[in-house]
Amino acid sequence: MPRVYLETFGCQMNELDSELVAGRLAQLGYAMTREAETADVLLYNTCSVREQAEQKVWSRLGELKKTKKSRPGLVVGVLGCMAERDGADLMKRMPVVDIMCGPGELDKLPELLDNAVRTRASLNGDQSASQAALQGNTSRRSQTLAAAEDRLELLDLSRTISPVDPDGSHRSAYVRITRGCNKFCTYCVVPFTRGAEIHRPPEHIIDECKRLAYAGVVEVTLLGQTVNHYRFEHGASVSVGGVVQPQKGRTYKGSHHRDAFAGTSVTTFADLLHQIHEQVPGIKRLRFVTSYPRDFGNDVLEVMRDSERICRYLHVPAQSGSDSVLKRMNRGYTVGEYLEFLDRARQFLHQPEIGRPLMLSGDIIVGFPGETDEDYQGTVRLLEQSRYKNCFIFKYSPRPGTVAYDKIPDDVPEAVKRERNNHLLSVQARIGEAIGNEQIGQTFDVLVEGLSQKQLKASGLTNAARKPRTIEVTIGGSAVATAPVVEETAEATGPVQVTGRSDGDLIIHFDANDSTHARSLVGSIVPVRVESASGLSLRGCAIDS
Ligand code: SAH
Ligand code: SF4
Ligand code: F3S
Repeated sequence: MPRVYLETFGCQMNELDSELVAGRLAQLGYAMTREAETADVLLYNTCSVREQAEQKVWSRLGELKKTKKSRPGLVVGVLGCMAERDGADLMKRMPVVDIMCGPGELDKLPELLDNAVRTRASLNGDQSASQAALQGNTSRRSQTLAAAEDRLELLDLSRTISPVDPDGSHRSAYVRITRGCNKFCTYCVVPFTRGAEIHRPPEHIIDECKRLAYAGVVEVTLLGQTVNHYRFEHGASVSVGGVVQPQKGRTYKGSHHRDAFAGTSVTTFADLLHQIHEQVPGIKRLRFVTSYPRDFGNDVLEVMRDSERICRYLHVPAQSGSDSVLKRMNRGYTVGEYLEFLDRARQFLHQPEIGRPLMLSGDIIVGFPGETDEDYQGTVRLLEQSRYKNCFIFKYSPRPGTVAYDKIPDDVPEAVKRERNNHLLSVQARIGEAIGNEQIGQTFDVLVEGLSQKQLKASGLTNAARKPRTIEVTIGGSAVATAPVVEETAEATGPVQVTGRSDGDLIIHFDANDSTHARSLVGSIVPVRVESASGLSLRGCAIDS
C-alpha cells in the first residue's frame, strides 16, 4: 500500500483535520510515515491566513520540482485553506501538485488520492495527475438548515481513537464544535476558505469526548473560530440516514444574559460546556478556543466558574486597541466593550486565592491600513490593561479576496509595521514577565507533557534534530503533544527536568527524580509550587499530595 507523508501548517483546526485525514487513510490501508524521502504520497495541509504562511508552502513545493523528476511516481497533494484560496492558480503555478483539496471537502480526499495514485502509475513524470475538490462559493448559497447529508461530519464521526500510548504522551485532543466563520473581519480569509459557520450536534461532540476519555485522553480543547457562538436548535434538526446533521449558524443575537430560548430546544455554548463537564468526568481539563469578544454571555462565565474541570483560560483576540481600526476591521465591538468583557470575565473567574487565577491570551494585528501612531498607542494601552499572559502579534498581511484587500489600501509602510511589531513584542514581554513573577509561591496542578527543552538539549535531543511534525495515526488523542516523550532520552540517572502546563496554560518546569519517575509522570496531573520565573517560563517543585 502507498506510504503517505503528511505535514501540517497553520492553526489547531488544521492539526485536527490532519489527524482525521491520517486516521481515515490508515483505515483504508495507506501506511502513514514520518519519512518524506521514502513516501509515495506527500500531503501538505496548508494555511492561508498570512502571506508568510503561504510562502512556507510555496518553498516546500518549489523544492519538490527536482524530487519529482527523479521520482516520477510521487503524488503531491495540497490540502487545506491554501488549496481552497488559490484553487486552480496553484496548480498552474506548481505543476508538481496532483491533488488539491479544500478544508470543506476533506471527506473526498480518499477518492482523489486513489484516482491520483492510479493515474500517476500510468503516466510519465511530466504530466500531472490532477484532481481537485474545492467548495468554491457553494457553501454560502443556502442559509437554510442543511437538508442534504453533511459528508464532512462523517469524517469527524469516523475519527479513529485508539488507546493513548503507554508512555502517556498525546493526552490532549482537539474536538471540533463549529466549522467555518460568518464574521467576515475585513482582513481575514477564513470565511472564504472554511465556508459558512456550521455547528455540530451536541450529542456528536459529547460522544466524541467520551470516546477520547475512554481512550485515556485527559485534556480536550473545543475548537471553533468563534466558539461562544455555538448554538444548536433541536427542534430544527434534520437527520439523514439516522445521523443528526450539523446546522448552519444564524445571525447571533446574544446578550450578557441567558439565552431566552435556552433549555430543551436549544443547546447554547454554556449548555454544551456544562453537559461535557457533567457527562465526561474522565476529561480532567476542558478548554476552548477561540472566543469572540462579543456575545460572550454571563451564562458561559457562570458555567466556567462552577465547573471544576473547565480551565480558567480564555484566548480572546482584540486585534486592535483603536475604535476606528476595529471599525474598519468589522470586528463589531469597541475597545471599551472589549475591556468591559475582560472585567466581567475577571469578576467571575479570577480567583488567585484558591490557586485559580484567570489567564488570558490574545491576538493583535499591527499596521492595519490607516493605523496612525495614535491608534497604535491605543493598542499599547489595551495590552497594558488586558494583561495577557501571552499575545500573538502579527503584521497586517493583505489577503486577496478579502474586503480590506480590495477596498482599503495597505498604506502603513513595512518599516512602521516592523517597528510596531517589535515594540509591541517588548511591551508584551514585560507584561508576561510581571505575570510570571506574580506566580511565585503559588501552587498549580500541572499536566505533565514530557521532557523540558533544557533536558532535551542535555540529552542531545534538540527540536532541530527531531523529525518534522507529522501525524501519527496510532495515537489516541491528537497530534498536539508539543513536548517530546521521555522514551527518547538515554537512560539518565539523577534528576530529569520535565515540563507541563497549568490549567491557565502557564508552562511550568520541575524535576522528576530520574527518568523512570519522569516517564511515570507524563500524562498525569501533579501539584507544583512555583519557585522562580524567567519571563513566562516558570520553575517549581513537585509537592507530595
Ligand atoms: N477566529 C479567530 C482568529 C482566526 S485567524 C478570531 O477571530 O479571533 C488567527 C489570527 O490571525 C487572527 O486572530 C488575527 O490576529 C490573525 N490574522 C488573520 N488575518 C490576518 C491578516 N490578514 N494579517 C495579519 N494577521 C491576520
Ligand atoms: Fe477571521 Fe474574524 Fe472569523 Fe476570526 S472571526 S476567523 S478573524 S473572520
Ligand atoms: Fe490558516 Fe485556515 Fe487555520 S487560513 S489559520 S489554516 S483556518
